Amino acid sequence: MSDSLEFSQPSFPADGDRWRVQAGDLAMIFTSDYKRFVARIHPEGVTHTHLGAFRHIDLIGAKWGSTVKSQIGHDALVLQPSLTDIMKSLKRGTQIIYPKDAAYIVHRLSLRAGSRVVEAGTGSGGLTTALAWAVAPSGMVFTHEAREDIYQVARENLARVGLLPYVKMALCDIEKGFRADDADAVFLDVREPWRYLAHVRHALRPGGFFASLLPTANQVIELLRGFDEHHFADVSVEELILRSYKPTPERFRPDDNLIGHTGYLVFARCIDLDEDMARWRQPERQRYEARLQTQAELEAEAKRRAAEVAAGGKKYPKLPLPG
Ligand SMILES: C[S@@+](CC[C@H](N)C(=O)[O-])C[C@H]1O[C@@H](n2cnc3c(N)ncnc32)[C@H](O)[C@@H]1O
Repeated sequence: MSDSLEFSQPSFPADGDRWRVQAGDLAMIFTSDYKRFVARIHPEGVTHTHLGAFRHIDLIGAKWGSTVKSQIGHDALVLQPSLTDIMKSLKRGTQIIYPKDAAYIVHRLSLRAGSRVVEAGTGSGGLTTALAWAVAPSGMVFTHEAREDIYQVARENLARVGLLPYVKMALCDIEKGFRADDADAVFLDVREPWRYLAHVRHALRPGGFFASLLPTANQVIELLRGFDEHHFADVSVEELILRSYKPTPERFRPDDNLIGHTGYLVFARCIDLDEDMARWRQPERQRYEARLQTQAELEAEAKRRAAEVAAGGKKYPKLPLPG
C-alpha cells in the first residue's frame, strides 16, 4: 500500500548534514575491540586512543556509522554516543550512579521535558547528566555539591557533553536547605538522606516525588523511619539486577562479569502534614502493626486472667494466639 510507504519516507535528504559528522557534534569513536571514546568535534581537535590519534578534521563530513581511520591507519566506527555512552565517558571524581539505576530513577520520578528536579550531591554529574537529558530543553536540574573539587569535575563534564544549560549548580552543603523550590522531584545521593527530609519537603511541590539511592540496608531503615516523621507516603524500596549476555549466536549465554549490588532505590511521595500517617502506611505494615496491637491486648488479658485465677477466681479457656 502506498500509505505505509509514504509513512516510512525520511523527512530530510539521505545525504543531508544531519547524517554526517559536523563540527560541534558530540561523537564517539568505537574501535573493533569495543573501546569507546566520546569527544566534542572541533576542526583542530584530536582524540588519542590505543589505536592512534583520530584527527577531527578527518571525521567531519563522515557519515554516522561509517569507518574512519587513525593517523597510524587503524579503523574505527564514528557513532553518535547514546546516553549510556555519555554517562560512562564522564570523568570520575566520585562513584557515579549506574545507567540502569539512572534510567529507572528518571522513570519513577516521572521526569519529562519541562520538569524541575532538585538533586544532591552532584558528585561527578553522572545522574545529573541523565536528569538534564530528561528535562531539557524546557526544564531544569538544580544540583548541590559540598566539595569544590568534585563540583568542578561535574561542571566540566556537563559542559563537555552540552547539558550545562539545563543545570543550575550550587556549591553548598544542603545542611541549610536547597537553592530551589516548587520542584516536581527531589533526588538524594548522600550518606544520610533522612537528615534532610525537612528541606526536601520545603523544596517539593505538594505531592512531589522523592527518591534516594543507598548502598546499605541500615541506611534504608533510617530513611524509612524518617518518612514517618516528615510525612512521606507511597513508599517503596527496590533493587535492579541487570543481567547482560554474550551476543554470540553460536554460544549465546550470560556474561561472565555481572554487575553486583549497586544500591537500594527508595521512592516516596510528599503528603500533606495534616494527614494521619498511620492511615497511609503500606498495607503490609498496617497489617503488621495491627497484629502487634492484638498481641499486646491478648497478653494483657492473659495477665489479668492469670491474676484472677491466682486470687481464686473462675477458670478461663486458653486464649488464641494472633496468626
Ligand atoms: C556518591 S556521590 C554522588 C554521585 C552522583 N549521584 C553521580 O551519579 O555522579 C555523593 C556526593 O554527595 C556529596 N555530598 C555529601 N553530603 C553532601 C551535603 N550535605 N551537601 C552537598 N553535597 C553532599 C559528596 O561530596 C559527593 O560528591
